[in-house]
Amino acid sequence: MSSSDNKNNSHSINPAASEDGISKGLANYGDRGFSLFLRKAFIKGAGFTDTALERPVIGITNTGSAYNPCHGNAPQLIEAVKRGVMLAGGLPMDFPTISIHESFSQPNSMFLRNLMSMDTEELLRAQPMDAVVLIGGCDKTVPAQLMGAASAGLPAVQLITGSMLTGSHRSERVGACTDCRRYWGKFRAEEIDAEEIAEVNKQLVASVGTCSVMGTASTMACIAEALGMTVPGGASPPAVTADRMRIAEQSGTLAVEIARKRLTIDKVLTEKAFENAMRVLLAIGGSTNGIVHLTAIAGRMGFEMDLKALDRMGRETPVLLDLKPSGQHYMEDFHHAGGMATLLRELKPLLHLDAMTVTGRTLGEEIEAAGPGFKQDVVKTAKNPIYPQGGIAVLQGNLAPGGAIIKQSAANPKLMEHEGRAVVFENLEDMANRIDSPDLDVTVDDILVLKHIGPKGAAMPEAGYMPIPKKLAVAGCKDIVRISDGRMSGTAFGTIVLHVTPESAIGGPLAYVQNGDRIRLSVEKRELSLLVSDAELARRKAEKPAVVPTAQRGYRKLFLQSVTQADKGADFDFLMPPMTGVVPKVK
Ligand code: FES
Repeated sequence: MSSSDNKNNSHSINPAASEDGISKGLANYGDRGFSLFLRKAFIKGAGFTDTALERPVIGITNTGSAYNPCHGNAPQLIEAVKRGVMLAGGLPMDFPTISIHESFSQPNSMFLRNLMSMDTEELLRAQPMDAVVLIGGCDKTVPAQLMGAASAGLPAVQLITGSMLTGSHRSERVGACTDCRRYWGKFRAEEIDAEEIAEVNKQLVASVGTCSVMGTASTMACIAEALGMTVPGGASPPAVTADRMRIAEQSGTLAVEIARKRLTIDKVLTEKAFENAMRVLLAIGGSTNGIVHLTAIAGRMGFEMDLKALDRMGRETPVLLDLKPSGQHYMEDFHHAGGMATLLRELKPLLHLDAMTVTGRTLGEEIEAAGPGFKQDVVKTAKNPIYPQGGIAVLQGNLAPGGAIIKQSAANPKLMEHEGRAVVFENLEDMANRIDSPDLDVTVDDILVLKHIGPKGAAMPEAGYMPIPKKLAVAGCKDIVRISDGRMSGTAFGTIVLHVTPESAIGGPLAYVQNGDRIRLSVEKRELSLLVSDAELARRKAEKPAVVPTAQRGYRKLFLQSVTQADKGADFDFLMPPMTGVVPKVK
């Protein structure tokens, strides 16, 4: 043992000496001195010296998992974060939490998001750390981490794992998952054969990392930076690049700085930050899931989301980012075009530039520090946008009294003003059984309705992107109006109405739509109407009242008892504090 370790030893088991670092949050045996003595005995078993244990402790969430290729670079990121922490004089402590991947989460990843947020929150609270670096990337992980960190209240930095590289199929550039859906659609329509679909399957995901288009993962990466929760430029570097590793190192260094400054998360996640994030969500043509997640994160800070105000904001926020599925490029192109600095510079007149970020500087100061822009063709100008209004519109009407949304930038303009006959599927199983039947009574002018995929109905799977009925797909139909209380992947496209609230499983009007009813969609008027009289709807309701799903045990029981509707972020009611504000405040 070094002399300095000897010198520090008696001091550092005195619990009154410090409430920070390794002395924080002691296990309670009724004797704080003993608790600290015991903790140090155990950690010294791993070879730590007292000198190391005197430093600010920086937690690093390790969300690496063999089941999560979107986090396949987690070991390298953790090494780089640790380097950054130690360069700044901190002690890095990585620890595992739940990791969620979209394709390896049965019944679906949304079911597990709140569990991951609880896991993250409780481990941030239970283990001693002065700040934390949250490593997340795949769709639900960043929202879960920000929700958990918001509730835990520590200084926190979000580190994004980064996007995957794009692949190439017969000279065409491809990437998950807009091209996954496009090629699968071609296969269903019998435009390509089994051999080609197997070939393309090897090219869609060309490396570890998150989906390469503006899906939910990329959306949440941009939102995290817009919220001020990442180091500047933290959203866009692909997973396998040196830039991504540098961002990781900087995240570690920054975590030590914010621990010393005690820049807690509530100083960053303010009403202004959420309003900035909403602007960005609209301007990037972001995933519709971004609204649910942003609502949930804001809810943890006591801010309620005003969907009507969000829609008003959308009318004055153009889509500037030319990325699939609304545009043509991929995340790595966005990075080469300067990433978020390029976008934020263009959006400046619409942003709160005085919002604080984790760097301790304001968003406006960070935009200035990024320097002047350069010629590129991925981020358009406000005068020449990809789409004149925000990517997402909020609909209302007797079919969705609590609201519904549509990603208008990824919809077919010809179908956005449409009245049609309802073709109803009662649940996912019903749809799976009948959608490809040659006997299905459906035409291209109809409107597909899928019930029971809301929060309580089925934990909001991304099934709102219903497949085009096979007989229409083979005849060349590429889009049809679809309505549900579920979600869709941010990588999907089409004229698809989602998040109908209240959901059918709790007796929302959607539950009472019948085959042959007329439905009117007007994105221009923000209208979603079931053209059936109130009296008839009341009669149907009385005839077949809703039976709200329940479960006997475990997490599913907790989920069904506590999950809120989409307009509240589908968070658990007992995790949300009393609401003290409303965002956005746009009039
Ligand atoms: Fe992980 Fe798309 S599946 S980001």
